[in-house]
Amino acid sequence: MKSPTKSTKTTQPPYVGLDPDIAATQLECAMGTADFARIAQACASGRQDLESRGLEENGNRSLRLFSTWEITRYLIPVATGHFRRVLKENPDLPQGMSETSGGAKWFTLDEVLQLRAHFGAKGSKAKDYRPYRPDGLPAKMLAVANFKGGVGKTSTAAHLAMSAALDGYKVLVIDLDSQGSMTSIFGGQVQDEWQTVFPLLARHYARTLQSDNQARAARGEVPQPLDDTLSSALQVKAPELIQKTHWPNIDLIGAQLNLYWAEFQIPVWRMNARGWRLWDALTESLDEDGILDEYDLIFLDTPPALGYLTINGLAAADILLVPLGASFLEFDSTGRFFDMLHATFGSIEEAENIAARALGREGLAFEWDAVRALITRYDSSQQAELAALMQSYLGPTLSPHRQGFTALIGQAGEQVQGIYEADYRDFNRETYARGRETFDATWAAVKSLIIGAWRRDELANQRAAE
Ligand SMILES: Nc1ncnc2c1ncn2[C@@H]1O[C@H](COP(=O)(O)OP(=O)(O)O)[C@@H](O)[C@H]1O
Ligand SMILES: [Mg+2]
Repeated sequence: MKSPTKSTKTTQPPYVGLDPDIAATQLECAMGTADFARIAQACASGRQDLESRGLEENGNRSLRLFSTWEITRYLIPVATGHFRRVLKENPDLPQGMSETSGGAKWFTLDEVLQLRAHFGAKGSKAKDYRPYRPDGLPAKMLAVANFKGGVGKTSTAAHLAMSAALDGYKVLVIDLDSQGSMTSIFGGQVQDEWQTVFPLLARHYARTLQSDNQARAARGEVPQPLDDTLSSALQVKAPELIQKTHWPNIDLIGAQLNLYWAEFQIPVWRMNARGWRLWDALTESLDEDGILDEYDLIFLDTPPALGYLTINGLAAADILLVPLGASFLEFDSTGRFFDMLHATFGSIEEAENIAARALGREGLAFEWDAVRALITRYDSSQQAELAALMQSYLGPTLSPHRQGFTALIGQAGEQVQGIYEADYRDFNRETYARGRETFDATWAAVKSLIIGAWRRDELANQRAAE
């Protein structure tokens, strides 16, 4: 047999022997600012072309169906036989669809939620059919943050939102990253910054300016005019910013590139009104518009930077999750991230407390129900030693559950984002079960923080009422 012909000439590596004259002629002219516009225009045209061919990544998305196996295994804790019996006895309940007569029954998530409610109302009280949320307490907000990119912030936040939804919680996802990855995962459409959290922050600032102006008027000073942006923002209410997604119980406030503008605008506002408590802007706006009653859980995805949007998100959050890989570099940079959190929030508190002391007011002390670092993309065959070392230094701050690396995330394909959207029939059952298990365990660890914090609040309220 002849082996495939191979060039006998020893080839040099491609970077040896380059000719400067040829290189100079190949190079285009120097680039200026306007060229960025030209490149952006080329991308926009390409994108439009893709859209017109139906290749747009965010094309209408729909959620897959859920089988009886999956429902009784993962979503409603009952024996399959009992599940079938209850459906038969209650013809008004969703009966599912099957592809072949007598084949497996498949349900939409909406139907699963109806069934869950039925089992919750009629079923055994000892079972956890409906997720715990104490009456009268506001939604818990969770921010996922780290100033390093690629550590799994968005994947973690998206999977947690989906887990929580499968568990029956009503979820709002807020994308604070102008790259909009979370927004595309949930198929959001955002035209400009007016469909992001931007107007809520602007409205909060505008209110501060208005009350500053009242004080100015009382002192006989000239008020500061509200510009168009601020006047428009005063009209915006949070529900107008919220979009439905292909998940019946996950809604979205999306992000888009223009949201980055907030990073420049916020410091200007802050200079203008020193008393503006910008770190309260998100929580107070959501609270005022009833969002904290409307939803159970709010997940905030943040950009890979400790800018003003991240500060706002972190200040709003009850629980802070900091994902990182079990690598030296990520451990090191996460340490510096905590350093920056200390410096940033410490300096806000210090500045506020000087003013507060002078006025005899109560000081500012940021507080979180829980802060957890979380190992993501974990490979037990390579990273066990490093992870153990990280655990020994971080102690309980590092969540003991490590989110495993799973090929399911990369494999899932364009229309499907993450393992909860994937149809298990597309995978080897074993691979599916393992991939799912690691994200279910991540949710279990985080859910335990959430319900623990709610329970603590509930008990504190009861004690206060006694
Ligand atoms: N558990 C995991 N297993 C395999 N790949 C993962 C996992 N978590 C995240 N990834 C991949 O790692 C990359 C970075 O994740 P992403 O969530 O976008 O990070 P960030 O938001 O911090 O920039 C993505 O390509 C994502 O698909
Ligand atoms: Mg991200």
